[in-house]
Amino acid sequence: MAKKLEVYKCERCGNIVEVLHGGPGALVCCEVPMKLMEEQNADSSTEKHVPVIVKVENGIKVTVGSTLHPMEEKHNIEWIEVINDDYVQRKYLAPGDAPVAEFYVPYSEKLIAREYCNIHGHWSTKK
Ligand SMILES: [Fe+2]
Repeated sequence: MAKKLEVYKCERCGNIVEVLHGGPGALVCCEVPMKLMEEQNADSSTEKHVPVIVKVENGIKVTVGSTLHPMEEKHNIEWIEVINDDYVQRKYLAPGDAPVAEFYVPYSEKLIAREYCNIHGHWSTKK
């Protein structure tokens, strides 16, 4: 059963999907069940993945992470996403970009920032 905003990955072809509306069925790709990319929220290594939310003049700035994450061809942050109540905004990144995104959303206690590392998976933090 898929739930709204969950992220799933096909471990055969690399497709990644985000659920817009949950349903009772299992998500399948390449004839195998897709893997739920659980949100991690505590770094145990020196490499930092947990997004950091900071209030800026016109909204918020999200940085990955407390020490900047690499943005190399083989290891990088693919996107940063902010969930603010009923709104979702996503910034796609490419190798060479800074692992940072600004969003023009009100700063609130309900903010959730998520990011996806192509090697270490899905990470989140709540304001
Ligand atoms: Fe990583």
